[in-house]
Amino acid sequence: MKRFVAEITESVRLYGDTHLLWFDATDVAGATPGQFLMVYIGEGEDPLLGRAISIHRLREGEHGPEFALLFDVVGRGTRWLAERRPSDGVEMVGPLGHGFEPDARAQRHLLVGGGIGAAPLVWLADDLAAQGREVTLILGGRTPAQIFPAELLHPSVELVVATEDGALGERGRVTAPFERLLSWCDQAFACGPEPMFEALWNVARDSGLRKPVQGLMEARMACGLGICYSCAVFPRQGGVKLVCHDGPMFELKDLYG
Ligand SMILES: Cc1cc2nc3c(=O)[nH]c(=O)nc-3n(C[C@H](O)[C@H](O)[C@H](O)COP(=O)(O)OP(=O)(O)OC[C@H]3O[C@@H](n4cnc5c(N)ncnc54)[C@H](O)[C@@H]3O)c2cc1C
Ligand code: FES
Repeated sequence: MKRFVAEITESVRLYGDTHLLWFDATDVAGATPGQFLMVYIGEGEDPLLGRAISIHRLREGEHGPEFALLFDVVGRGTRWLAERRPSDGVEMVGPLGHGFEPDARAQRHLLVGGGIGAAPLVWLADDLAAQGREVTLILGGRTPAQIFPAELLHPSVELVVATEDGALGERGRVTAPFERLLSWCDQAFACGPEPMFEALWNVARDSGLRKPVQGLMEARMACGLGICYSCAVFPRQGGVKLVCHDGPMFELKDLYG
């Protein structure tokens, strides 16, 4: 983990209110899918707290390795970030947290993303698919404007889309295809809003299949470094966990079981 300034190589509004930034990647070597960066936004006398953003994916750029951030423009910080242009520098700290832990023996992987929860799953899907492992990615959103473009996924990833308005894929939430596909997979991974995790956990528990499901939790984060306790969560088993330090990846059975 280190503090660094990354230079933007590409900036694009990819779909809906979702923006994609590519950066030179010299400082994130060794990061794994599910890890995040604290991104320091604002300038000069108007600095803001860091914003936690997952590393979205990696690529080989024109001048060397690059990493991407994919984010929804929801407030002041993400708006500032979306206004940055190529060759601008952005200050960051990371890579932070514990990412997904795919079991080396697993062959079939079920990934479930709600809205912008797709961001870190795309990299996990890239990684698993590049190793020749099977990946089915379920993406859900209220409307098609929240769905990551299918053509940008690794070609061997199987995509299932569920939208609440039914305008793309099947009508409804991600829980229905998750229930249908759970028996197919060896391991499942999820990222999205907390109610989605609870719904997935209920399906996984009621199925009696005992499939391991890892979820990437979101929480309001002030420091990202285990100091301020703003990201504390309280698993049902008791105790307190810090999303930035103990997570953001948690086994859903540890949170809700
Ligand atoms: C580990 C981690 C990884 C994340 N990865 C991504 C990512 O890859 N892409 C992405 O778009 N977002 C991601 N987020 C959420 C992101 O941090 C917030 O959307 C961002 O901080 C909003 O900043 P802002 O200044 O634009 O909005 P603000 O003005 O601070 O807030 C705007 C709205 O977003 C809500 N909000 C702000 N922060 C969070 C948060 N941490 N969790 C839930 N709601 C929040 C606020 O309640 C408010 O309604 C991640 C969060 C965590 C903790
Ligand atoms: S964000 Fe400060 S302890 Fe987690």
